[in-house]
Amino acid sequence: NLSTTEDAFDKLPRSANGSVSVKDFEEFIGKYFGGAGDDLIFHEPEDFALEPEGFLPKVENQEVRAWALEVHALWKNLSRKISGSVKDQPECHTLLPLPGPVIIPGSRFREVYYWDSYWVIRGLLASKMYTTAKTIVYNLISLIDAYGYVLNGARAYYTNRSQPPLLSSMICDIFNQTGDMELVRKCLPSLLREYQFWNSGIHKVTIQDAQFGDYILSRYYAMWDKPRSESSVIDKESASKFLNASEKAQFYRELATAAESGWDFSTRWMRNSSDLTTLATTSILPVDLNAFILKMEVDITFLAKVIGENNIADSFLVASQARRKAINSIFWNEKMGQWLDYWLGNNTTSKEVHSWECSNQNLNIFASNFVPLWLDVFNSDTALVEKVSKSLKNSGLICAAGIATSLKNSGEQWDFPNGWAPLQHMIVEGMARSGSEEARSMAEDIAMGWIRSNYVVYKKTGAMHEKLDVEKCGEYGGGGEYKPQTGFGWSNGVVLAFLEEFGWPRDRKIDCEQGY
Ligand SMILES: *[C@@H]1O[C@H](CO)[C@@H](O)[C@H](O)[C@H]1NC(C)=O
Ligand SMILES: *[C@@H]1O[C@H](CO)[C@@H](O)[C@H](O)[C@H]1NC(C)=O
Ligand SMILES: *[C@@H]1O[C@H](CO)[C@@H](O)[C@H](O)[C@H]1NC(C)=O
Ligand SMILES: *[C@@H]1O[C@H](CO)[C@@H](O)[C@H](O)[C@H]1NC(C)=O
Ligand SMILES: *[C@@H]1O[C@H](CO)[C@@H](O)[C@H](O)[C@H]1NC(C)=O
Ligand SMILES: *[C@@H]1O[C@H](CO)[C@@H](O)[C@H](O)[C@H]1NC(C)=O
Ligand SMILES: *[C@@H]1O[C@H](CO)[C@@H](O)[C@H](O)[C@H]1NC(C)=O
Repeated sequence: NLSTTEDAFDKLPRSANGSVSVKDFEEFIGKYFGGAGDDLIFHEPEDFALEPEGFLPKVENQEVRAWALEVHALWKNLSRKISGSVKDQPECHTLLPLPGPVIIPGSRFREVYYWDSYWVIRGLLASKMYTTAKTIVYNLISLIDAYGYVLNGARAYYTNRSQPPLLSSMICDIFNQTGDMELVRKCLPSLLREYQFWNSGIHKVTIQDAQFGDYILSRYYAMWDKPRSESSVIDKESASKFLNASEKAQFYRELATAAESGWDFSTRWMRNSSDLTTLATTSILPVDLNAFILKMEVDITFLAKVIGENNIADSFLVASQARRKAINSIFWNEKMGQWLDYWLGNNTTSKEVHSWECSNQNLNIFASNFVPLWLDVFNSDTALVEKVSKSLKNSGLICAAGIATSLKNSGEQWDFPNGWAPLQHMIVEGMARSGSEEARSMAEDIAMGWIRSNYVVYKKTGAMHEKLDVEKCGEYGGGGEYKPQTGFGWSNGVVLAFLEEFGWPRDRKIDCEQGY
């Protein structure tokens, strides 16, 4: 236990300046600490089949099919359950004991993550692993039961922030394929609780427009103003220039809030794009977060109707109409044909009411400016889709191997030239669902480039990667504060979802020669 460990640490032999030798320290760690990853053990998913019936019917090319089956088989690699010692002594572990087995993203990410799980589930649905997909949802629901919202991930040190809220999307997609009403019945109360979390307190922001009244939108806001425990050393170093304690605390909050946004880190959240210490995530109303919450409102309307909760359905329909209006008023920029993040100003951490000013829209181009296309309420408007996809085409984000995250090569992960699976997926799926033939064909081209690059990287390195360099087909991405990771949950999910949607004809080659 803790006091035994502390005693042993205090008794380690020290040199005159108080330091401990590497050998003694390693012995101490080996004796009193479990190894990284010992808290989870391999688990064979019960619904895994080597080649599931009806798997990717539109993939005719044998080479692509063989690879897709390898990607499918990776669900086995990424499937885990908690070890006996976590169950018996949860207080000795940072891992939170979820009720069911889990799918992890891979490599250093050896616990469940919130938004990653959406694309993992999309892949599992293509793999016909419905039980595993539902178990992921029930695990996340258990976090809402315990904390009131879905944590960033299933670790004790993630209890003070969430991640992009996609639980309702997971439930709708599973329901649409399985018709499981029991799932909907069990999950709806938790969804309502999560909805409250994002629409109250510090997450809720009112923008007053003199002409049209109030708009209510949401922002990311971590309930944490210290170094992130999992990145403590690097956060302290990044904060070292702040001497004033309250400024330092605010910077720690901005770091944790960027992690809550999923975009850790990006010039998107910086006032000065060459200076990480100007992170100001809490002072921004993000387009994508509000699109996700609008989707949550639409999804809850749909799910409540499914189980006959008509009052809930009616009130969420009204809420969705209000947010749609707010998104159109605050984020939409007619001249650019994009939705733009909105700056709340400079000293706004506690202020919750702001007046609308057109000049507060962030004119920089990010892939998130196009995420609203993912929602049926937007992609069902063909004229709008044509305008936005033309804007995307001319934005500079479209590269040989996918959509870049931003136009700025800052060395951060969520910037140029990195492309991330979730961003490819939401934008492509939105355009592919639209009534615009041009947008549908552009979506397919982007998806093809993304699939080719994933394939070539996989053949070259033997692994699926968390992000790719979209400038160069066949290269994985870099930058940021940790080494590029492999595995990889959401990349596998998006490749399988794209192959399900678009297929691959028998005689279309898969290599990087084809270009975009
Ligand atoms: C962080 O989360 C824990 C667990 O939910 C809670 O008890 C604590 O008050 C939170 N800390 C802050 C600073 O909000
Ligand atoms: C620290 O900075 C805050 C805000 O910038 C200011 O209000 C406060 O007085 C400063 N504290 C010290 C000790 O300088
Ligand atoms: C932005 O940050 C860089 C690096 O710290 C600095 O050199 C530059 O002067 C800053 N720009 C502004 C406008 O403050
Ligand atoms: C699936 O669920 C959504 C709710 O988000 C609904 O709007 C949509 O029509 C459904 N799709 C299918 C194919 O049933
Ligand atoms: C915030 O302050 C900077 C200067 O520090 C200024 O350039 C910028 O316009 C301000 N932003 C808003 C939204 O007030
Ligand atoms: C924001 O805070 C800074 C320093 O804390 C101060 O100099 C500035 O006047 C404040 N700006 C506004 C708009 O309140
Ligand atoms: C998947 O797991 C198997 C067995 O543990 C291992 O041999 C293989 O290298 C793994 N594949 C990847 C791509 O991680």
